[in-house]
Parts: sequence; C-alpha cells; structure tokens
Amino acid sequence: MKVTAIYGSPRKDGNTDRLLKRFVEGVRDEGVEVVEFFLRDMNIAPCREIYGCKRNGRCVIDDDFHVIADEMSKSDAIVVATPVFFYAVSAHTKAFIDRCQSLWVKKYWINKVPFGKGETGKPGVLISVGATRGKKLFDGILLTMRYFFDCLDAKLWAALLYRGLDGKDDILNHPEYLDEAYAKGRELARVVREGKGAA
Ligand SMILES: Cc1cc2nc3c(=O)[nH]c(=O)nc-3n(C[C@H](O)[C@H](O)[C@H](O)COP(=O)(O)O)c2cc1C
Repeated sequence: MKVTAIYGSPRKDGNTDRLLKRFVEGVRDEGVEVVEFFLRDMNIAPCREIYGCKRNGRCVIDDDFHVIADEMSKSDAIVVATPVFFYAVSAHTKAFIDRCQSLWVKKYWINKVPFGKGETGKPGVLISVGATRGKKLFDGILLTMRYFFDCLDAKLWAALLYRGLDGKDDILNHPEYLDEAYAKGRELARVVREGKGAA
C-alpha cells in the first residue's frame, strides 16, 4: 500500500507544504508508505500539445514527469497540495497536471473508456490555501482537480481548503488546520488499508 504526495508550491516550508507534511505524517503513523515529490525541485516541462502520447499513452517529453507518473500508477491514493494563484493551481502544479493529458489520451482515446465511467477508484485528496476569503476561492481548483483525478482513475475523496493564509508561517497560527490535516491523513491510510477507496 502506497500513497503519492505531490507538493505544488514554489515556496519551501510555506502553508501548503506544512499542511501536506502533517497529512503525510498521519498516513505514515497508520503504517502506510508515502512517496513525496516536490515539484519545485523537479524538471517538468509544460505540455507541448504535439500528441506524441497518441501512440501508446506515454508522453514523449523525457523529463521528471515520468518518475511521478510511474509512481502514481503504483499508488493507492494521490494527494496534491497547491496554493491558490489567481484562482487556479500554481504554475508548477498546472504544468504537471497538463502533462497528465497523456494519461487522459491513454484512458479515453487508446483504451476507449466511455466518458463518465471509471471515475470510481483510488482516493484523491486536494489541500489548498489562499490569502483571501471569497466564497468562490477554490471553485476553479476544485473543477481542475476533479478532472485531473478522473484521468488517474481516482476521485476527489477529500478537500482540505483554508482561507485567509498569506504569509509563509501563517499556518502556524492555526494548529487546528494542521491537526485536521494529520487526522485526514490517518483516515486516508485506514481507507486505503481497508480498500474502501471506491466507496
Ligand atoms: C502569484 C500569486 C498569485 C496569488 N493569487 C491568489 C489568489 O488569486 N487568491 C488568493 O486568495 N491568494 C492568492 N495568492 C496568495 C497565496 O495563495 C497565499 O500566499 C498562500 O498562502 C501561499 O501558499 P504557500 O505558502 O503554500 O505557497 C497568490 C500568491 C501569489 C504568489
């Protein structure tokens, strides 16, 4: 049993980093392995839209994307943490997500899975943070993540969304958010262990 954790912020040890780290601790404390990826430290080019992936569903750009894609395919759950940047995911996260178009091509064009099928599957978790407090702050990201998880045969199982956090250490003023992330990590591990991800 394994969980893939993807850190999407350019800022080291910022709010989403700290939340995901607590989440990961929760997963590990339940005895489930976690493989972590820090997108800011990886070489992942944006999608070039050349559709080299049409041949066999593998992206033809040779970079670190494949390290994560291979790991995700062996994982029982995927967790992504991203700050809100202009009501969207960070550029690091978006570049990574766009490269997953190759997996979308594999699923829907090569394997011909009917649209709307295959969404059940492994649990996907979103952790996100924004500075402001608007009602629609996470709408764009939630939509993106639903379709991102779909192409991985995952579904949005939980979203931990926190408003009003801007400075790098702001999250430290909210130990209750970090506690919630830790508890959710433990819960995810139990779900993965019991194979209830598709519930
Ligand atoms: C390029 C950029 C765009 C941002 N856009 C938004 C935004 O649209 N809405 C918002 O509430 N906060 C926005 N923020 C603030 C970040 O979401 C906020 O600082 C967050 O806590 C950063 O998380 P991190 O510490 O994990 O990187 C933006 C920050 C940057 C640097």
